[in-house]
Amino acid sequence: MSTTERTYIMVKPDGVQRGLVGKIITRFEERGYKIVALKFVQPTEEHLEKHYADLRNKPFFPGLIKYMASGPVVAIVFEGLDAVKTGRAMLGATNPLASPIGSIRGDFCLAVGRNIIHGSDSVESANKEIALWFPEGITEWKSVFENWIY
Ligand code: TYD
Repeated sequence: MSTTERTYIMVKPDGVQRGLVGKIITRFEERGYKIVALKFVQPTEEHLEKHYADLRNKPFFPGLIKYMASGPVVAIVFEGLDAVKTGRAMLGATNPLASPIGSIRGDFCLAVGRNIIHGSDSVESANKEIALWFPEGITEWKSVFENWIY
């Protein structure tokens, strides 16, 4: 397990519209994760079809793409120990109603089709998603607090 593991987190259009960007970022920062990339972007349907390529045969795929393209998203890369698995635990389950209270989906949303946040489900998909959303690359930086977290 590495202290420089990275995960791709995205505040979906409903999270942006509802003004939850700050709260979501705060949870990751307070846990100890470091922002290594962040941008506000209106994704195209083509780009989202690449992001969700594994789901292209699912019945909910067309609706998922329309929802995800309906407004800007916040694309973020967080870095820190066990970022992928712990990030998923912080999100909760895919269905907000099955998400524990205290998780982001368990605290802020109700419907699977409006579940406000994305998080990578493996280190391999994190690497692919980071390359897809940040083709320009990521600036390395060292936080002065790192010695107090690890
Ligand atoms: P998935 O990758 O299975 O879940 P997660 O986001 O937790 O990794 O699905 C991607 C998104 O597709 C999910 O966040 C919401 C949407 N979705 C539906 O709209 N209906 C469904 O039945 C499922 C499984 C997902």
